[in-house]
Amino acid sequence: MGEPAIHADCLSKTYNGAVTALRGLSFDVVQGEVFGFLGPNGAGKTTTVKLLNGLLKPSSGSCSVMGLSPSIHSSEIHKICGVMTESAKMYGNMTGMENLEFFARMYGVEPGKAKARAESLLKCMDLWDARGRELHAYSTGMAQRLSLARALINDPKVLLLDEPTNGLDPESANAVNSMIASLACKEGVTVFLCTHQLRYAQDICRRYGIIEKGTLLACGDLETLARNAQFCPKAAMRLPDGEQLENFERGNDGWWRADIKEDDDMPRLLKKLVEEGHHVYEARIVRPSIEDIYFRYVQINRGEEWH
Ligand SMILES: Nc1ncnc2c1ncn2[C@@H]1O[C@H](COP(=O)(O)OP(=O)(O)OP(=O)(O)O)[C@@H](O)[C@H]1O
Ligand SMILES: [Mg+2]
Repeated sequence: MGEPAIHADCLSKTYNGAVTALRGLSFDVVQGEVFGFLGPNGAGKTTTVKLLNGLLKPSSGSCSVMGLSPSIHSSEIHKICGVMTESAKMYGNMTGMENLEFFARMYGVEPGKAKARAESLLKCMDLWDARGRELHAYSTGMAQRLSLARALINDPKVLLLDEPTNGLDPESANAVNSMIASLACKEGVTVFLCTHQLRYAQDICRRYGIIEKGTLLACGDLETLARNAQFCPKAAMRLPDGEQLENFERGNDGWWRADIKEDDDMPRLLKKLVEEGHHVYEARIVRPSIEDIYFRYVQINRGEEWH
């Protein structure tokens, strides 16, 4: 597995000695993976990003990015990290191009390379035609894409992204997500992705951390999380109208569903149904989505009933 790109060990943060935002978080993010950090408003996601980027210091515990401690090695961290947060503002009276060139200089990108890098990012983010326009004349989505370009200007090894697709229309959100996935896949960039957009997360994340009220409820890939939350796969069948299946539940979509223990139960079940004379038009195994899993963990944590 190699050295983790991001490591947190009992990481805690209390603001002004009063508001406890993080309580003893421990997790690793593997190099080159997209790690989805999911949690409701106020869970502690942005606080975690700020700790990883050295903007805040932990109250106790520690974290590291590529083996460096953000609170001690802050300038080294800024060289290898790209960060996109809502608070990371750029200059409204500078053009898109000028902003990127300015931040390239700030992050120590060689002047010879800065212009080419800025140009290629502007094209990639579909901002080429707006490159000469001042930032205050950008729409929310355009500013958001410029902010992602800024996070990438120093060719980072680690990307910390706080809600990168907030405010983007579906087409731009898709474009940004494919870009994030390809950075991880083709260039080995490690991505720490805070998001509420669970469906998008499932398309690009390999592993997840689920956080609520400063506590990490679960960490792992989809399969592990599903197993630990006691989700089993379901067999789903579509039959002609009027035909009934015993021990199955009929969903609003007309499909009949029943829990199975493992994939191997499916062929046995199908054989049985056909032998019983049922007309199975379609059959498939349904697994929980990250959205199903997320809600179950949050419900369990709040002590609510689930079914
Ligand atoms: N500067 C601050 N001073 C005091 N409390 C803060 C500060 N910043 C955040 N908090 C508190 O810390 C907790 C975690 O906030 P944080 O911004 O990390 O959550 P979040 O998961 O990013 O939420 P959201 O999804 O709304 O962005 C909240 O209770 C918040 O009120
Ligand atoms: Mg936040």
